[in-house]
Amino acid sequence: MTAQLRRRPDGALELRVNGVFVMDDAESTSERLLARTVLDLGAREVLVGGLGLGFTLRELLDGGAERVIVAEIEPELVDWLADGTIPGGTALLENERTEVVVADVREVVAAQSPDSLDAIVLDVDNGPDFLVYEQNAAVYGDDFVAECAARLRPDGQLCVWSMADSPAVRDRLARRFHEVEALEVPVTLQERRESYWVLRGSRRR
Ligand SMILES: C[S@@+](CC[C@H](N)C(=O)[O-])C[C@H]1O[C@@H](n2cnc3c(N)ncnc32)[C@H](O)[C@@H]1O
Repeated sequence: MTAQLRRRPDGALELRVNGVFVMDDAESTSERLLARTVLDLGAREVLVGGLGLGFTLRELLDGGAERVIVAEIEPELVDWLADGTIPGGTALLENERTEVVVADVREVVAAQSPDSLDAIVLDVDNGPDFLVYEQNAAVYGDDFVAECAARLRPDGQLCVWSMADSPAVRDRLARRFHEVEALEVPVTLQERRESYWVLRGSRRR
């Protein structure tokens, strides 16, 4: 996988992976909403899959999270935040509540103790039906959903960012989580109105 960062003519900073658009800093509503959703449900110890440009991490820290573990597969992303190439990144990584692990989110979740997290927030790809990285299909699969459930405290949250609603992922969540919902997030992408989605559930007791 190759990550590329570029400043567009409109001034926005854009992240591409394997040449495919992943996100920019002009529209970060859905990345911030991922964090806000779990904070509003009381989460304080959170694992985030995918550092990206750091919006989810910043929202969690600003919203009072006590510990945020971030799994990021691309070391360059971490370097770009650390050296300020991604503005504001240095402070995010130096925050004593932040712990970044350069690895696949599946390994980082597997390394957590059972019942140890309030929330797991997954934003590692463009969603289950728009993969930039084929191996990420497993992130949306039944085995990994079960793995996440085992690492969460009772009523802990699993939140998944997606470019589109996914009935298949909602069904998988519903096997182990209750209150499963799909939150539609209206966004403006280069003057087009679109929607992104946050799929969420609370771990059954
Ligand atoms: C859309 S961005 C995340 C955006 C982030 N929520 C934000 O607020 O900026 C996706 C990130 O996930 C990373 N990634 C992709 N697959 C991954 C995996 N399997 N494990 C960990 N990180 C992964 C990518 O390198 C990229 O940095």
